[in-house]
Amino acid sequence: MLKGKARAHTNIALIKYWGKEDEQLIIPNNSSLSLTLDAFYTETEIYFDEALTADIFYLDGQLQDEKATQKVSRFIDLFRQQANCSLFAKIQSTNHVPTAAGLASSASGLAALAAACNQALQLNLSKQDLSRFARKGSGSACRSIYGGFVEWQKGTDDQSSYAISVDSQHFEDDLAMIFIVLNDQQKEISSREGMKRTVETSSFYPTWLTEAQKDLVAIKEAIHQKDFIRLGEITEANGLKMHATTLAAVPPFTYWSDQSLKAMQVIRKIRKDGRPCYFTMDAGPNVKVLCQKEQVSQIKERLAEHFAPEQLIVAYAGKGIELIEMDV
Ligand code: DP6
Repeated sequence: MLKGKARAHTNIALIKYWGKEDEQLIIPNNSSLSLTLDAFYTETEIYFDEALTADIFYLDGQLQDEKATQKVSRFIDLFRQQANCSLFAKIQSTNHVPTAAGLASSASGLAALAAACNQALQLNLSKQDLSRFARKGSGSACRSIYGGFVEWQKGTDDQSSYAISVDSQHFEDDLAMIFIVLNDQQKEISSREGMKRTVETSSFYPTWLTEAQKDLVAIKEAIHQKDFIRLGEITEANGLKMHATTLAAVPPFTYWSDQSLKAMQVIRKIRKDGRPCYFTMDAGPNVKVLCQKEQVSQIKERLAEHFAPEQLIVAYAGKGIELIEMDV
């Protein structure tokens, strides 16, 4: 039996990945930049076993259905091919998400699975190759291979599209992200579906691409200079531009709920009152607040005037993938 176990943390993009050039290989249309966080992570163990007659997949202790298992099987096939291995596998994955649900992420899940497969099949893949493999499971997963600030360089093909660690002289250690969990029961449009519709139909999409490129250059400069205000301004503006593309899609859609809009207003007000903080959002209504570590308690206090304590989760910069020793 071949076994491996790994942990990966989730990441939140400050410069968003939005749209694919190649849907099969998951080559993006634009490069992106993220912060890996400590509060949300996935631990995955995998056993390749001759005794198995099919892949079996448990998520948080629950045996998963055929559809979910097939998705995971297809991803593991990439590693089986690479290792010339035809064994079936048992996969046990646990999402560590504090309090409210709805924050489990495909990024940490697929990055952890990639690292566990690499270990079990003794592939000795470099981080660069692991990032390429993770990318083929879910684009944003390629950034969760690394800790701190991470850039996914879009590249032009399978070989050249992967993430790298951004040299920041530990700037990320000064930062925090407060998650405002908004559990509105909206109909979900997955990021995959949402970005596809936007690429195909949104008249704002070409502008998004030129803007994202400029924002990436500017944010790297801000990181280099450890300029928090600049970092926050670019993050907030880039997120808004991404979400603007969805309004011009056909048919139009938005991930924002009334609660998201309320959160944005509250954040702007806190900022106006002299506490620097900036928001970003992904393919859902939750709002994430980027701030300095030293200001977390005051900003959280202000947010707590509008949101319940269990809706507010604080995260700090997190590590890249880690292998975990197995006893059995
Ligand atoms: C808005 O990585 O979930 O969070 O590659 O189709 O699996 P697929 O999409 P996914 O998209 C993430 C989109 C985003 C922005 C980001 O994380 O960069």
